[in-house]
Amino acid sequence: MEDYIVEMRNITKRFPGIVANDDVTIQVKRSEVFALLGENGAGKSTLMSILFGLYEPDKGEIYIRGNKVRFRSSNDATAHNIGMVHQHFKLVDNYTVAENIVLGIEPMNRALGILPYVDIKTANREISLLSQKYGLEVNPTDKIEDLPVSVRQRVEILKMLYREADILIFDEPTAVLTPQEIEFLLKIIDEMRKSGKTIILITHKIEEIKKIADRCAILHRGKLVAVLDVESTSSQDMANMMVGRMVEFAAVKQPPRYRETVLEVEHLSVRNANKFEVVKDVSFKIRGGEIFAIAGVAGNGQGEIADAITGMIQPHSGTIKLCGKDISGLSIRQRVEAGLSYIPEDRQGTGLFLDFNLDQNLCLRKYYKKPFANQHILNFSELESYAGILIDKYDIRSAQGIKTSLRSMSGGNQQKAIIAREIEEHAKLIIFVQPTRGLDIGAIEYIHKQILAEREKGVAILLISLELDEIMNLADTIGVLYNGEFLKIADASTMTSHDVGRYMMGVKGQ
Ligand SMILES: Nc1ncnc2c1ncn2[C@@H]1O[C@H](COP(=O)(O)OP(=O)(O)OP(=O)(O)O)[C@@H](O)[C@H]1O
Ligand SMILES: [Mg+2]
Repeated sequence: MEDYIVEMRNITKRFPGIVANDDVTIQVKRSEVFALLGENGAGKSTLMSILFGLYEPDKGEIYIRGNKVRFRSSNDATAHNIGMVHQHFKLVDNYTVAENIVLGIEPMNRALGILPYVDIKTANREISLLSQKYGLEVNPTDKIEDLPVSVRQRVEILKMLYREADILIFDEPTAVLTPQEIEFLLKIIDEMRKSGKTIILITHKIEEIKKIADRCAILHRGKLVAVLDVESTSSQDMANMMVGRMVEFAAVKQPPRYRETVLEVEHLSVRNANKFEVVKDVSFKIRGGEIFAIAGVAGNGQGEIADAITGMIQPHSGTIKLCGKDISGLSIRQRVEAGLSYIPEDRQGTGLFLDFNLDQNLCLRKYYKKPFANQHILNFSELESYAGILIDKYDIRSAQGIKTSLRSMSGGNQQKAIIAREIEEHAKLIIFVQPTRGLDIGAIEYIHKQILAEREKGVAILLISLELDEIMNLADTIGVLYNGEFLKIADASTMTSHDVGRYMMGVKGQ
């Protein structure tokens, strides 16, 4: 028994309409990296939220270091040296790094021996020591709101370490990171394991599991399917087990059949709020039946290009033509009606209404048109049956069908909902920004097939992705964006992923 630092036995957790964890048992050994793999909505976050004391299970028992525990809040879990970095971070934006890290357990001192005050100097010193020990560089006096996600994540990790956590739960930590940052994080996880910590890692990326994990538990629709030794199991087997069928890693692509130019962007420049030019005189065009992919490290202007085309921001100069017609002056809705669909990066902020139900979200683009509305009267049965069709077609999984509140759905299934809605608009141009972020491999395979099917139909596609594999799999033409400019635009078949990677780093010429 002592071998296991964490045991969750026969855990069952129900939400209205769904069994999120169905009699799941996992046993984690001291100082191993234990991965959790499973489709979107399989119950991974729920299981770890139970271990961290955020939910109480309906059934089952938890043992930590051989002792039975019952957690009523995350404070109880923290007291047992368990820490968690959540899928969506939980830092206080207008506090400093140090204030966030010590929040709730601030080191105290007494002025004149009586008046208690927070000893921020001691805190800063302790944080510096920790950050040196693990190579997690932060500046304790920086404000969270000024920091990029990768640094925020470091703060979350330091916060766990400061609380002396030695069982560390990471819920999809790499989904928000660039490839370089992922490398770095995996190294740190390895360091932590070597220093005796136990790590539970949720990820959709099997290559990360291969690289770092010792064992891997696979969940499928709430149930535990298997616990595997990572070294002796192939990636293909893991993928198949998790999805419950054979998975193809690379989508099958027909040779391109280009049609007329659909999108033409000329001399586009965009300035940010500080008047700094973030897109610099960019020109490119996309034909019908072509997937034009913008590759680049996050923050090189790709988001601004998409926003300028869709009308979310006003460019400083340049023209944008859709099927020969200048759309630069049109409103967002007019552009949509001219034939543009958009899958934005920030799905919760701009893509969906979290307080609406699934059917309402699926019909956002349609509800005011016939046959869904007649002279401003909504036809609910039409709307509901349309939503039902999309749910089946795109395999959107939720607890209560069309009446599920978006907020309660798993991250990946929220993403599928936007993609379904936008593809079904039958647009001339579809812009996909990070379309598969946070999706399981079965869902990625499915979305890639959908993107290719649209290409076959002659739709022009702008794909913006940080995933080099995704770009190499799908693109007909690749534009590598660096510092607001295209360093290179070329036919995808003439470049290797190594070439693209070099341009992404700003290396010109080979
Ligand atoms: N607070 C909640 N209320 C209602 N249903 C919930 C709640 N949290 C999760 N669920 C449901 O439980 C199921 C499991 O969700 P969970 O978030 O654990 O999935 P996951 O494996 O983490 O998925 P993803 O990979 O998409 O993050 C989903 O069907 C989800 O809709
Ligand atoms: Mg999750």
